[in-house]
Amino acid sequence: MPSMAANNFSRNTQYHQAKGDFLARKQKYEQQRKNLPIAAVERRLVEEVRNNDTLIIVGETGSGKTTQLPQYLFKGGFCRDGGIIGITQPRRVAAITVAKRVAEECGVPVGQKVGYAIRFEDVTSGETKIKYMTDGLLLREALLDPYLSKYSVIIVDEAHERTIHTDVLLGLLKNVQKARSKSINGVVNTDLNNSNNGHTFEERIDNQNTGILKPCQAKKYNPLKLIIMSASLDARVFSEYFGGARAVHVQGRQFPVDIFYTHKPETDCIDAALITIFQIHLEEGPGDVLVFLTGQEEIESVERLIHERLRQLPECSRKLLTFPIFSSLPLNCLRKLLTFPIFSSLPSEKQMKVFMPSPAGYRKVILATNIAETSVTIPGIRYVVDPGLVKARTYDPKMGVDSLIIVTTSKAQALQRSGRAGRDGPGKCYRLYQESFFEKLPDSTLPEIKRCDLSNVVLQLKALGIDDVINFDFIEKPDRTAVVNSLWSLYLLGAVTEDNKLSDVGHQMARLPVDPVYSKALIVASQFGCLKEMLICVAMLSVESIFYAPREKLEESRNALKSFASPEGDHLTLLNVYHAADEFFQKNRMVNSEEKAEKNLRKWCKDNFINSRSLKHARDIHSQILRNVEQMGLRVTSCEDDMLLLRRCLAASFFLKAAMKQPDGAYRVTLSGLIVQIHPSSVLFRAKPECIIFNELVHTNHSYVRNVSRIDYLWLIELAPQLYAAQD
Ligand code: CDP
Ligand code: MG
Repeated sequence: MPSMAANNFSRNTQYHQAKGDFLARKQKYEQQRKNLPIAAVERRLVEEVRNNDTLIIVGETGSGKTTQLPQYLFKGGFCRDGGIIGITQPRRVAAITVAKRVAEECGVPVGQKVGYAIRFEDVTSGETKIKYMTDGLLLREALLDPYLSKYSVIIVDEAHERTIHTDVLLGLLKNVQKARSKSINGVVNTDLNNSNNGHTFEERIDNQNTGILKPCQAKKYNPLKLIIMSASLDARVFSEYFGGARAVHVQGRQFPVDIFYTHKPETDCIDAALITIFQIHLEEGPGDVLVFLTGQEEIESVERLIHERLRQLPECSRKLLTFPIFSSLPLNCLRKLLTFPIFSSLPSEKQMKVFMPSPAGYRKVILATNIAETSVTIPGIRYVVDPGLVKARTYDPKMGVDSLIIVTTSKAQALQRSGRAGRDGPGKCYRLYQESFFEKLPDSTLPEIKRCDLSNVVLQLKALGIDDVINFDFIEKPDRTAVVNSLWSLYLLGAVTEDNKLSDVGHQMARLPVDPVYSKALIVASQFGCLKEMLICVAMLSVESIFYAPREKLEESRNALKSFASPEGDHLTLLNVYHAADEFFQKNRMVNSEEKAEKNLRKWCKDNFINSRSLKHARDIHSQILRNVEQMGLRVTSCEDDMLLLRRCLAASFFLKAAMKQPDGAYRVTLSGLIVQIHPSSVLFRAKPECIIFNELVHTNHSYVRNVSRIDYLWLIELAPQLYAAQD
């Protein structure tokens, strides 16, 4: 019958079409891969890895290191003995986007041959051979498998970023590598993790070899190939650290970039960035724009402002058409500007959009955090706008305060940023500061280990059997005071004993994938009988702001918050939000599909000025940590309506961060003496209770505390006598 024939015909055409698309895509990727600078040295690189157990690879951003090297090594047979290739990234976004890209290049769905794993999300399977992950996640894996036995190759990528996890990982991998090569000659204990007896990793292996510890199941390990990759030219520090390891340089492709500075200092960076974006859009030739901003909030407001200004632009200006470059552009060209944000907490499908080429005639503006500095390379960029700022962690060991603040970039960062404009052709970089200011910038950024709270790392090292943290072979030693302070807070939390050994509670804490204070809170809550509520609090505290308060609807958003607000503080308020959202979702779920219920929940969030992305993230974290505590055998019970009990539990958990009201209405942090204010976003901003605990300290023009709850000072004396009883 004719209609049947037509149907068949059309199905067949579609089939051929799909196959054709697939082949065309494959060809396109093959062509792109062949053109990358790294492709010219594929054979040499594989040989270098074969001949050297540790190799340093330095190569300019965009040369193809992250996406190509693992594929070369896979092809070169480095997975033949069943081992897999692991690649660590300092940032979650990079791990996700790169894994997706490489899976696409290989023509497989992500999660099979190519996968990724980040905290709270594992997209790998038994088939995975190339695994991208965050550096922090590999550290966690080492807790369960100290020899990292499933990896034949580990690539530490973006090592120049010197995140705290990268630094610790380098020391750990050095040990693992030595231990694995020793295991070839001798017998080692495969159950090292449980024989936590205060010896360093190597000592424990030596003890096994000399037979001091009771013999355990024997196992031989293949040597571990270790590759350190960096975008900065200085490989010396890594090479020296690995006993003179060989370093190779991959030549990049870099076109000249013209640098422009402002004539006078800019007071309003956002405004200066906006003016520059439109100046480029209206006056410069084709090419996309990359703007470096400090975080989600700034990115979202710049995005909004761009759209506002775009609406004010005439569809097309006759006057402008007299300029030669405009006369070549189609009519209504002036509004053809698309914005794409990219930052860590952006959902991954949105992150992937920045890599798509802009439609014909459109210019893309990518609004990025420093993720786009070296971690991800976005093709098509010809213009870079660099306000010269970055959000960085800082730590004041004297005050014990860890905070995220906005600081100026280093010269090295500024150079990396401008380099992004010269990947596809000659480019331009607009630095929103004066040239004299550039000269004053520090050469490079201080490694994170020198400027953050070390409690988490110290706890993890101890759980790995490395007790003498101060003498651990770090690439750069952290400050002694910072180590001592973190040991002190771990002691107060009950994670380490008086003689600095990890306690049983400490072992439990190290198993939970959250900050030590939060893992302690979960353990305390199981004893108080309110773990169900604390799991929610910890999940909600672990995500970026749950509340969404756009400037133009401040009043409405404040009113929306009122329906959830608890007079007892932000923790109970967060709990109310979670319960309300959950109730809404479950009711919806009874009459709708999962998908529809999710959609309705997003709408509910919007109506209630709640950030649906953050809430979703919190729900995911909640189910993961619920699994964790169940596996650990903790009792998950609810305190029902007994909020007094929950607040007492908050005091027993977060006593390290307590503050007392001063006569002038400010607060004095009990431990450090620091004077702080309650942040205006807190439900206790006006109430000003006598005594509070809080989770976060932020510095802007004042020191503010966020996530605050009202407590009774006497509870501190009763529940944290190790700190408060002596003071009274
Ligand atoms: O690691 P490296 O900076 O040396 O380069 P890469 O991340 O391997 O990127 C190699 C090339 O792949 C770049 O030209 C990127 O533009 C491209 N790429 C992409 O188009 N989409 C991605 N998700 C990742 C990379
Ligand atoms: Mg890379």
